[in-house]
Amino acid sequence: MAVSCVILPLSVMSVLLGFSVVLILVGSASAAKFDELFQPGWAFDHFIYEGELLKLKLDNYSGAGFASKSKYMFGKVTVQIKLVEGDSAGTVTAFYMSSDGPTHDEFDFEFLGNTTGEPYVVQTNVYVNGVGNREQRLNLWFDPTTDFHSYSLLWNQRQVVFLVDETPIRVHANMEKQGIPFPKDQPMGVYSSIWNADDWATQGGRVKTDWSHAPFIASYQGFEINACECPASVAAADNARKCSSSGEKRYWWDEPTLSELSMHQSHQLLWVRANHMIYDYCTDTARFPATPVECLHHHH
Ligand SMILES: *[C@@H]1O[C@H](CO)[C@@H](O)[C@H](O)[C@H]1NC(C)=O
Ligand SMILES: *[C@@H]1O[C@H](CO)[C@@H](O)[C@H](O)[C@H]1NC(C)=O
Repeated sequence: MAVSCVILPLSVMSVLLGFSVVLILVGSASAAKFDELFQPGWAFDHFIYEGELLKLKLDNYSGAGFASKSKYMFGKVTVQIKLVEGDSAGTVTAFYMSSDGPTHDEFDFEFLGNTTGEPYVVQTNVYVNGVGNREQRLNLWFDPTTDFHSYSLLWNQRQVVFLVDETPIRVHANMEKQGIPFPKDQPMGVYSSIWNADDWATQGGRVKTDWSHAPFIASYQGFEINACECPASVAAADNARKCSSSGEKRYWWDEPTLSELSMHQSHQLLWVRANHMIYDYCTDTARFPATPVECLHHHH
């Protein structure tokens, strides 16, 4: 949950290093109640609250969506989702972070429904300065409709990591040294929604939503935002400064160990890509005759 800064003097380290170091820990990793962090965005009557559980409903009248109350820069957001059971064809459930405006940045998980017994597909995308077209798709190694699984976005100045049950499925690395823009200047909100997308979502739009199977329900629990909060009243540049480690202020997500995947995580990502990836824009030469620049440097 996002709480105000707690300052812990690292006295041992100070003694060892002979100077004063202050580590700032923002938040804690414990899950919060939905309404501490989020609020309904649209279709309030399509929200079902069952204790710690939240359900979003899609029917032939409407889908539904929620948004974080605050915007954030850097950190980690996690939500546990149980996707639509049975026939979910034509439906899309999304979990994403996004900034506002025409040059927005965005990190997306989109869960594309399917007919009963056929696998959900997870599509991820990254928008930088308003430009997306960086889709990847994979099948999961479990059925996401029978249990809750955690979906997370880890974001720091070096990388954006998409995680499923803590296994990395995608890394968008900072390649500013190669002249490629990286999203690190705009505070982002955290969002989720369910809607009808039967014009494209399932088997390329060939399978339509069967409304006789409505309502379609996505269930949520375990909301966690462990990130640097950016008040709307503060200018973006000031928020960027506030949310960056500098001098004696050090945020956990800027620790060197999080500047790239660990060896173990790299192996996990290789496994996911080898066994579960079904589409990668980087290798879609029909769509991109010239390989997108970030793909040339990318070895993840
Ligand atoms: C929506 O579905 C309900 C139940 O199947 C049906 O009675 C109603 O007419 C439908 N409404 C629209 C706008 O299609
Ligand atoms: C749905 O199932 C079909 C058949 O198994 C599969 O080809 C497709 O990728 C699945 N997902 C979507 C979103 O169409």
